[in-house]
Amino acid sequence: MWHACGLTRPWNDPRADLDQARAGATSTVLVARRAGVVVGTVMAGVDGHRGWVYYLGVQPGEQGRGLGSALLRAAEAWLGAHGARKVQLMVRTGNPVSGFYAGHGYAVQDCLVLGRWLEPAAG
Ligand SMILES: CC(C)(COP(=O)(O)OP(=O)(O)OC[C@H]1O[C@@H](n2cnc3c(N)ncnc32)[C@H](O)[C@@H]1OP(=O)(O)O)[C@@H](O)C(=O)NCCC(=O)NCCS
Repeated sequence: MWHACGLTRPWNDPRADLDQARAGATSTVLVARRAGVVVGTVMAGVDGHRGWVYYLGVQPGEQGRGLGSALLRAAEAWLGAHGARKVQLMVRTGNPVSGFYAGHGYAVQDCLVLGRWLEPAAG
């Protein structure tokens, strides 16, 4: 489903991301099911300061029916219950989804997101 939603990238292993988020006490993956089949997901985690949302996606044939909104609200509730007071997320450049988030009260933040890969731990 994540592939169909365009959420995967060659440098990320979605299975490893899923397992890591589900294994942690401060992260989770919530799903929406129709007739037992997963048709939507959202990953949420608190980092000790903020809550973050990843992998929000709804199966293309199921979009536009409120599932994405319900998943986002569920993630916010989960994060709030786990101590987060602010929720943040990253939207890839070129993804036209900003309007969806704006409709849920999300605004562009006055900061630049930087990142770097860590080398695997030795031993
Ligand atoms: C973003 C996404 C999860 C929304 O899920 P959804 O189930 O279609 O959303 P909803 O049905 O709850 O839509 C809620 C509102 O957002 C609007 N909306 C949905 N997608 C939108 C978009 N791409 N741009 C602007 N508005 C959008 C809907 O029109 C609806 O507005 P309304 O309440 O005024 O009618 C879904 O489009 C998706 O899976 N996209 C591909 C994956 C992706 O890019 N995820 C975000 C990664 S940061």
